Amino acid sequence: MSEGQQAAAARSTLALTGAAEVLRPPADGLPYLRHDRAHELRLDPTPIAVHGDRIADFAADDGAAMRIDATGCAVLPGLVDCHTHLPFAGWRAEEYELKVTGVPYEEIARRGGGIAASARAFAQASDGEVLAQARALAAEMMACGTTGFEAKTGYGLSPEAEARAVKLGRELGADRVTGLFAHAVPEGYDADGWMNAVDALAAACDVDALDIYVESVAFANEHLERLGAIAAREGVPLRAHVEQFNANRSVPVALAAGARSVDHLACLHPDDVEPLAAAECAAVLLPGAELMSAERTPPARALADAGAICALATDCNPGTSPIVSLPLIVGLAVRRYGWTAREALLACTLNAAWVLGLSEELGSLEVGKRADLVVLDSPVAHVPYRFGRNPVCLVMRAGEVTWVRSDAAWRVTA
Ligand code: NIG
Ligand code: FE
Repeated sequence: MSEGQQAAAARSTLALTGAAEVLRPPADGLPYLRHDRAHELRLDPTPIAVHGDRIADFAADDGAAMRIDATGCAVLPGLVDCHTHLPFAGWRAEEYELKVTGVPYEEIARRGGGIAASARAFAQASDGEVLAQARALAAEMMACGTTGFEAKTGYGLSPEAEARAVKLGRELGADRVTGLFAHAVPEGYDADGWMNAVDALAAACDVDALDIYVESVAFANEHLERLGAIAAREGVPLRAHVEQFNANRSVPVALAAGARSVDHLACLHPDDVEPLAAAECAAVLLPGAELMSAERTPPARALADAGAICALATDCNPGTSPIVSLPLIVGLAVRRYGWTAREALLACTLNAAWVLGLSEELGSLEVGKRADLVVLDSPVAHVPYRFGRNPVCLVMRAGEVTWVRSDAAWRVTA
């Protein structure tokens, strides 16, 4: 290292001290932690030293250039939102009123609402307008502790517009961009015909994973199987929205196709719990969508007890889950699933990072990982308990303090 580089490294050292609870994995280097081991997560007090953009040590660093006084706080790894539908254009609040007054989601979709309505809004918005909305949402997510997130396409509904969504997801700076090219069947196509377009998009676009919505109003298990073959050809993970409103027995199909994750699972068949729990495939649960769309509740307690790799996410989208806050999702999961706070936090940290193929870099506090951390103004147990309140008072991403609540500014000294 040159003298200049040494000086720069010294300037970028940071010491966090005083935290009463620091959430850490039971061992270093775990790609994920199955949920029957969630109780092994540690919550001990420890100082944290950061050098540049990396976690350097769990020890005091008296010479650090910047200090964070975390007295009375809990510290988590930066939260990872492994299932969002950013970027999208506008909202669909009017549909929410229809939904709560009894009109089913599938009926709203058949009337031209739903995904097709968001596709029209996406087509009408300029790139700048779409990005401005998505960046504002990403900033809200950051203030709730999210330091890593996935973006999906899916509101394009034409080959050109889906390719545009990939480009905007990249410009947004999402940690992963998933091609949800098979989200709804566009006008002028049948499902088989659109899958040919999906095949071509998968070959042409730079995406980190492929995804599909299997549902009565969208695609069927045979299309999931076909997307599995496309994903294998492209060398990217397969993900799938399955069992959200109806039981289609899509999970065995997804497992046979080697899916990285199956998402939603509100209508998961009891016979599919054990095979899913035994597989190296995450169960991504989306309790925000379950609440907002009056879905059933997945067998989340059974999945955790059986040792599934469970993850939680916001599913942030204008239709079924206009939610950005992972602390809120943790609160829902604890109450609705009968999960502990540790189980819920594991699901939106290490396991969520694994879903995105990023758990070597994100998802847990370990020496050498990206210095993404979240300081809470209260104990971990308060995250689900003080439901709906945002306990996040400071966020660091890649060694940079990216958000500080005004009443916590005193904690940072340089
Ligand atoms: O994950 N279920 C399919 N896709 C979204 C909803 C999309 C929409 O309604 O805009 C979801 O819930
Ligand atoms: Fe979704």
